[in-house]
Amino acid sequence: MAVDLLLGLQWGDEGKGKIVDVLTKDYDIIARFQGGPNAGHTLEFDGIKHVLHTIPSGIFHDNAMNIIGNGVVIDPVIFRRELQNLDKFEGLDYVSKILISRKAHLILPTHRLLDAASEASKGKAKIGSTLKGIGPTYMDKTGRNGIRVGDLELADWKDRYTSLRDKHISMIDFYDAKIEYNLQELEAEFFDAIKVLKKLKFIDSEEYLHQAQKSGKTILAEGAQGSLLDIDFGTYPYVTSSNTTAAGACTGLGIAPNKIGEVFGIFKAYTTRVGSGPFPTELFDADGETMGRVGNEFGATTGRPRRCGWLDLVALRYAVQVNGVTQLMMMKGDVLSGFDTLKVCTSYKYKGKTIEHFPYNIEPENVEVVYKEMKGWKEDLTGMTEASQLPKALNEYIDFLEKELETPIKIVSVGPDRTQTILR
Ligand code: GDP
Ligand code: IMO
Ligand code: MG
Repeated sequence: MAVDLLLGLQWGDEGKGKIVDVLTKDYDIIARFQGGPNAGHTLEFDGIKHVLHTIPSGIFHDNAMNIIGNGVVIDPVIFRRELQNLDKFEGLDYVSKILISRKAHLILPTHRLLDAASEASKGKAKIGSTLKGIGPTYMDKTGRNGIRVGDLELADWKDRYTSLRDKHISMIDFYDAKIEYNLQELEAEFFDAIKVLKKLKFIDSEEYLHQAQKSGKTILAEGAQGSLLDIDFGTYPYVTSSNTTAAGACTGLGIAPNKIGEVFGIFKAYTTRVGSGPFPTELFDADGETMGRVGNEFGATTGRPRRCGWLDLVALRYAVQVNGVTQLMMMKGDVLSGFDTLKVCTSYKYKGKTIEHFPYNIEPENVEVVYKEMKGWKEDLTGMTEASQLPKALNEYIDFLEKELETPIKIVSVGPDRTQTILR
């Protein structure tokens, strides 16, 4: 069986958690392939809202096994908190429903401190990191210094921990910005959390997934962040430290490219971004304020307000190409109800020339946005359940996007709840 992928096409927070939850009934396995607790994936059902950071969004269904792949970085402290949050769901036996790759890397307390020191020393040029230690952990992975989940099964892992920690502490001292910390407290919390982590099953997840494919099991790979935060293809350096695009699912799970099936690309009907970095269609007016308020645009991990703007087709076309998206899903259509006119960016004026591809640099001094105006709709979409109920102007919006992106939009989401999902 082929492995299907679900990926965010913008700057994250497109609604991946909601859609993975909706799709899980059709899959035997849900597998996260990159990122770490910088992610915040929100699910809503039966009046409950739940945010996941490391745990795959299939966890609330009985039929699916949830894999945390080798490409993910795990903070045991945050992971333990996530498990504790699941305790309130009676009958949810997460220990038997989560499997963790031995090759996934661990976020140490000093990785978080290094993230904080690095950001503080950058001043205005800071990335706007979630400060979860993501960058420093992936640096240690590629620098071949990291500690992996599988190392916890080895007798000498604490020695390796100590030498890496000591190195980190001398690195923290290098930064101009001084940060306060209590290492003893951080370590006590970390080692307690490691005990909890060790209650879960560690596996060679690439082998598990290989056998699962051979025996005909259905697998959905869940991405974190979004294509414009990809370490190679995103708006560098204002990106995260992993490959968030389709190729990341191959390296983050050990899945061969010829085993990929559908690539579900998910986007908001407008655009948001949290953290620093260029954002050509960003709005600083009442329209942007309305999107943020109606869309409740606050980061699920950090609570920071998300920057809002119109849909950017130059960026979206690029993301569709880089990922090989086969089906699109448009989220938060309901948030645009009530606008008289909508704007969609169709091209950029880049250094004075009109271009339709995503250029090397999208800093404001080089990019002017070209908009097409479209008619808005007034109807409240949140109670709609069938494609036939969607207003004419929304259908025109969807038709236009499908044509521009040369890809069908198969799901239109009209609210945060599982049930507010329209299939086309
Ligand atoms: P993720 O990181 O991609 O999983 O997305 P987040 O959970 O960070 O952010 C998406 C937010 O939008 C969450 O608060 C969701 O509950 C909410 N959401 C998802 N789909 C819809 C939708 O169609 N309409 C509205 N109004 N909210 C939605
Ligand atoms: P989900 O999976 C939105 C952003 C941060 C910052 C940059 C680098 O919920 O869509 P990092 O902590 O990775 O060093 O931060 O990336 N960022 C996200 N923005 N959604 C996310 O995840 C994000 N994960 C990281 O705000 O700009
Ligand atoms: Mg999120």
